[in-house]
This record gives sequence, structure tokens and C-alpha cells, in this order.
Amino acid sequence: MTEEIELEQLPGVGPATAEKLREAGFTDLMAIAVESPKNLAELAEIGESIAAKVINAAKKAANVGDFEVGTEILERRKSVMKLTSGSKALDELMGGGFETQAIVEFFGEFGSGKTQLAHQLAVNAGLPVEDGGMDSHTVIIDTENTFRPERIIQMSEALGKDPEEVLSKIHVARAFNSNHQMLLVDKATEIAKEFPVGLLIVDSLTAHFRAEYIGRGALAERQQLLNKHMHDLLRFGDLNNAVVAVTNQVSAKPDAFFGDPTRPIGGHIVGHAATFRIYLRKSKGGKRIARLIDSPNLPEAEAVFMVREGGIGD
Ligand code: GTP
Ligand code: MG
Repeated sequence: MTEEIELEQLPGVGPATAEKLREAGFTDLMAIAVESPKNLAELAEIGESIAAKVINAAKKAANVGDFEVGTEILERRKSVMKLTSGSKALDELMGGGFETQAIVEFFGEFGSGKTQLAHQLAVNAGLPVEDGGMDSHTVIIDTENTFRPERIIQMSEALGKDPEEVLSKIHVARAFNSNHQMLLVDKATEIAKEFPVGLLIVDSLTAHFRAEYIGRGALAERQQLLNKHMHDLLRFGDLNNAVVAVTNQVSAKPDAFFGDPTRPIGGHIVGHAATFRIYLRKSKGGKRIARLIDSPNLPEAEAVFMVREGGIGD
């Protein structure tokens, strides 16, 4: 991360602008440098021309070049870690586990296993690296009140881990509405300053948005907010070298715009912002089928896994 420079030290940034930037969560030069003027203007509520100036200044101060050669990107990719799901088949589908610096979206109907996977990932994130974990803490933004410490205990015991210790590394906040949900990403950033947070979960990403922004007239605003939210999440993943996992229920009833019931809520906005999309469905006898839909470097394929009392497995 970039060295600590006060925002006021950037040429052209006065105390008022610096304050607005901080309020919008921009405390890191790199985070400013990688924004688009339009986004920064919107997020920090400053003029677009000021935003452009601030971004340029931050680029210089943070030493951000416009282009990198492939070897440099490969070097950054080397810091990517992979988190195990608990299922070998599912890990293989993902090229060895869930990657940091990326968003993985689980979508599927009720009971397809989205929340179970979220619990298992939270347990696994605390495991040592050699066991497929990241030795890290987890932040869960729980929008549906479905986090269950009892499940964490069962999953921990199945792995022979001390449940108390596992639970002590999982930070859960209920989000009461979509606005609160978005603000909690900033809180997660604060937690990440105190603890190594390798996993951020939003379960469910879309439920509040879907309930609050109803009908065609509200669609544009909903999509805009979801876009900002996804953007914030990806930034969290990049800055903290963390896995970001979000869940999305397939709409059973036709949506205002995305009428196809097999389409995830949030449509193109969520789909494009997610690095990996996994479609989950129930099969016979506790089996679940995961289909990798969208990936920058992996083939579209399927994996079968199980949900048991002890958690996710093959
Ligand atoms: P929604 O949030 O409603 O969209 O569903 P979801 O995809 O989050 O479903 P969730 O992950 O909560 O899956 C619930 C299902 O997991 C249950 O219907 C069970 O099939 C399975 N499950 C949950 N706990 C256990 C358990 O202790 N043992 C077993 N065998 N299965 C469990
Ligand atoms: Mg759920």
C-alpha cells in the first residue's frame, strides 16, 4: 500500500475536499488513483473537474503508471491466495480455490447452499495456509439474519478446530437496509486495519435492494447503487488481498426488468462486476451442483459437492 500522505498535501486539494474524500472512505492514495473522475465525483460529492485533478495528483503521488508489462502483473498475481471451499471438486472448478482480489458470486434458489458455503468459507479462512486457509479473519455482512454460530461450531468441530477460536475471528454485522449494507463495507475496512481480514462476505447482496427498489421506475437507481456497492467490494478485495464472496438469490417471481426467473437479480451490473459467478442448484440426496458461469481464465464447467452437518465436502 502507498505511504501515508495527508490528502491535503496533494496539489489542488483543500481541507474541504480532503474531508469529503475521507468521509467517502478515500483515505488511501491508491484507492483515489484508480477511480474514474465520474465515480470519484459521485462518491465523494465533489465536482467532476476537481475529481479529475485529485486523481491525477494521486496517481503521481502514488506512483501509478498507466500501463504495466505482463511480468509486473504476473508479480502482483503472485500475491493472490486461494481459499478452499472444503470440497476438492469445487476447488478444482475454481482452479484451486477461491481467489483473493476478486469477487465470487453464488447465485441460486432458496436452499441451494449459498449461506452454507458462506459459513464454510468463514471457517476455512481461519485455517493455516497449508490447509487451504489464509490464517485470517472474516467479515460477514448479514442482510437476512441467517448467520448461525451453531453451524460454525459444527463445521469447526468437523475440522478438529476449537469453535471458540474460530468464532472469535468471524466479525458479523446485520445490515438493516441497503444503505446500511453499503456503509458496512466502510466498517469492514476499519476492521481490516485491526485484524487481517482475508474474506468479506455479503449474504445476501441483493435482498434489500430488491425489496426496496420496486418496479421499473426504481430500476436505474437500484442498478446504480448496486454498481457502486460492487465497486466498493472489489476495492476492499484489492486493497486487503481478500476474497469477496456475495450471494444472490435467483428471483422466483419475474423481476421488473429481468423477467427470466433463472436470471440472478441485479442482472448485468452484478454479473459484470463479479469476477466469478457460480450457479448453485440442489440435486438428489443432499448433493449440490455448482456451475462456473463466468470466469476470466477458467472454462465453464460443473462440480458436485455435498452439504452435511460437518459442512461442505465431496
Ligand atoms: P436462501 O438464502 O433461502 O436463498 O438459500 P441458501 O442458498 O442460502 O440456502 P442455505 O445455504 O441456507 O441451504 C440450506 C440447506 O442446507 C438446507 O435446506 C439443508 O439442505 C442444508 N443444510 C443446512 N444445514 C445442514 C445440516 O446441518 N446438515 C445437512 N445435512 N444439511 C444442512
Ligand atoms: Mg441464504
